[in-house]
Amino acid sequence: MTDTHMPRDKGLDHTLQLLHEGYHYVMNRSDKFDSRLFETKLLGEKVICMVGQEEAALFYDNAKFSRKDASPSRIQKTLFGEGGVQGLDGQEHHHRKEMFMSLMSQDGLARMASFIQEEWEQEMDQYQDEKVIIYSLAKRVLTRAALRWTGVPYQEDQIETWSDHLGDMFEDAGAVGLKHWQARRSRNKAEDWIKELVGKVREKEIEVGEDSPLYHFVWHRDWNGELLDKSIVAVELLNLLRPIVAIAVYIDFLALAIHDYPEAVRQLETEQEREHFIQEVRRFYPFFPVAPARVKMDFEWEGYRFTKGTLVLLDLYGTNHDPAIWDHPDTFQPERFKEWSGSPFDFIPQGGGEFDIGHRCAGEWLTLEVLKVTLDFFVNQITYIFPEQDLTYKMNDIPPLPKSRVVMEQVHMK
Ligand code: HEM
Repeated sequence: MTDTHMPRDKGLDHTLQLLHEGYHYVMNRSDKFDSRLFETKLLGEKVICMVGQEEAALFYDNAKFSRKDASPSRIQKTLFGEGGVQGLDGQEHHHRKEMFMSLMSQDGLARMASFIQEEWEQEMDQYQDEKVIIYSLAKRVLTRAALRWTGVPYQEDQIETWSDHLGDMFEDAGAVGLKHWQARRSRNKAEDWIKELVGKVREKEIEVGEDSPLYHFVWHRDWNGELLDKSIVAVELLNLLRPIVAIAVYIDFLALAIHDYPEAVRQLETEQEREHFIQEVRRFYPFFPVAPARVKMDFEWEGYRFTKGTLVLLDLYGTNHDPAIWDHPDTFQPERFKEWSGSPFDFIPQGGGEFDIGHRCAGEWLTLEVLKVTLDFFVNQITYIFPEQDLTYKMNDIPPLPKSRVVMEQVHMK
């Protein structure tokens, strides 16, 4: 069997089309070829793109795919860092992932929920009556909560710097030119600072709470029984701090959904209805576009040949908008989640498959917790109006924030 019948995006390279079509790139071709997978060329490399539930189940089969060298080096230097859990496979990955998942206990999640509540109250209190930009406020709220939750010591006057550095890593992760270098500089500074902190904790120069993620990571023994290198502790701590601050993107979309769908907001009475609203925000709006992996060894699937080493991208946004899975996928309908089966492969805004032995996002429960508290805060604890503003966003920006970043005015605590 050969792969001659896998549809192929003809032409030398399609990077420019990808940049132009953004989140729609894979689905546009999937529609054109009437196929859930096709071959293309991106940044000069042959790539297989896939979208859909069965394709997600294939993608998360550890026997067939590996994460080693799957992310482009420029993304590692900004978004992920080098040597972190994202690029590990097998037992090594499982062991490191456990280090993250053990933080996501009921207790750990409840602690984060209470920090978020406190920080929103404090932040909004300062701006009563003023015009506020939700995205900026959310980044500050999340930066403080992230530092408190992880146990990383900070002074109040360092919050803006932390927030900027952590923001640069995900706002400009895929940027080129100056912004790319800015994101790299921000990562290097944050990593250096954390490495120094790890040294001080190990030398007992500073004390940190034994139940804090910082303590846990500093003294974690890796698969080989050794303490993690300081630079790896820094990368993994940033794998907590950075994405916690990135929840600001979802918070901005949450505020946009409140603005755009007042009827759905009026129906929010039970906890379950609020949860469905949040799930729909994560399904409907674009954020993390694709997950990358490499074919581990030659195999065939549905008559298609996958060759060892080939880069494969799973379209997360496309799967969340796949008409084969979702009725009217481009309509915002929180109540659709009443019927959702809970499959690990059809609703995958933060990756699919399993948490412990797969690469599904370690922070998904934490993200839900933060969004739950924030939705309750916006809907039940404050009053405000939305002034005229430009709420459009571009489907080829990552992350694609509304232009005005969602502005509220005349904010008052109830
Ligand atoms: C802001 C919202 C978030 C989004 C959209 C998001 C999305 C994702 C995605 C798409 C993946 C990769 C899945 C894959 O490769 O198959 C991932 C992995 C990961 N996420 Fe998140 N995430 C978010 C929040 C968080 C939070 C709050 C944390 C930590 C507190 C976190 C920690 C991680 C880690 C450690 C991984 C690597 C998991 C692994 O490779 O096994 N994320 N996330």
